[in-house]
Amino acid sequence: MNHQIQIQATGGPEVLAWVEAPLPDPGPGEARIRHRAIGVNYIDVYHRSGAYPVPLPAVPGFEAAGVVEALGAGVTGLRMGQRVGYVDGPTGAYAEARNHPADRLIPLPDSLSDEDAAALLFKGLTAHMLVRRVWRADRGPWALVHAAAGGVGLLLTRWLAREGAKVIGVVSDPEKASMVAAEGAQATVVVPRGGAYDGLAAEVRHLSDGVGAGTVFDSVGQDTFTASLASLAPFGLLASYGRSSGPVPPVDAADLGRRGSLAFQRPSIFHHIASPADLRAAAADLFQAHADGKVRPHVHDRLPLREAGRAHALLESRATRGALILVP
Ligand SMILES: NC(=O)c1ccc[n+]([C@@H]2O[C@H](COP(=O)([O-])OP(=O)(O)OC[C@H]3O[C@@H](n4cnc5c(N)ncnc54)[C@H](OP(=O)(O)O)[C@@H]3O)[C@@H](O)[C@H]2O)c1
Repeated sequence: MNHQIQIQATGGPEVLAWVEAPLPDPGPGEARIRHRAIGVNYIDVYHRSGAYPVPLPAVPGFEAAGVVEALGAGVTGLRMGQRVGYVDGPTGAYAEARNHPADRLIPLPDSLSDEDAAALLFKGLTAHMLVRRVWRADRGPWALVHAAAGGVGLLLTRWLAREGAKVIGVVSDPEKASMVAAEGAQATVVVPRGGAYDGLAAEVRHLSDGVGAGTVFDSVGQDTFTASLASLAPFGLLASYGRSSGPVPPVDAADLGRRGSLAFQRPSIFHHIASPADLRAAAADLFQAHADGKVRPHVHDRLPLREAGRAHALLESRATRGALILVP
């Protein structure tokens, strides 16, 4: 029998249930992966809370690292015992083992441990998208990164800084600010939990010699949307890639114009790695960036898989710095 975490009804972390369920042999084109480390991502919280509806019951999770344990019919290019990871659906990573489409599996380099892979793949490929497809130096050197000490945030801050961006990282406490500075941020702004972002735009202009940010990377959403727009330089881009505080309001095109010919984008990792070729190329680039020291995974903590609810509560409490890992 295979143990897994199920969302049986939407709600708080307490709805995550530890259950036993049979695992069939992998179907055609699938491989069975025995998980060694599972990545916790904010999208798992949205699935659990109902913010992003999924048919229930559902096993959450888009990210894990493990070894190939069985191969379905027609699968080529993988071998038994090979270390692999993955970053997309169908959901189901919160399990001891699962079957997954073989063409979406990423062979892992020996230089990356299972835990580091589970901390790096989903968040690192998101950072890869933001650095390679969204960031453009000619919009201006200043990049404002919200939740800069988060799972994506630490990777993004380091990578942008190594691409020459002057990163201003927004965090909620001084300890997070120190971590963000250590990744290469030029400056940090602390907005404590429960505090307002009203003064952020003025602070960003002050730090950037009156220029403002060429690009804002905003994963917080509702609470930061207005401050993010107000922080941009003319012709700047708001890359709104998450909503940990709630959904962003509808975007008003006339308002973008009035504020300085601004642009708005809602980038998604799932478009970035849509084809197997896109996925392989992005993963190869990410592993090279890891080897070059442009990204480095941070594991905040590892918890037993059956304590997935505690992991969600921790993530939502804003106490984590870097990634949370579940260990089967
Ligand atoms: N578009 C995509 O393809 C894509 C892919 C991956 C992730 N994402 C998004 O990127 C974001 C980061 O994901 P992650 O897994 O790395 O999480 P995370 O950044 O480690 O955690 C969320 C962080 O957001 C900040 N935050 C500010 N206000 C918050 C609030 N009201 N509630 C909760 N958190 C708040 C907190 O940092 P402070 O306390 O320092 O403010 C918190 O630590 C999420 O929004 C996720 O949906 C998007």
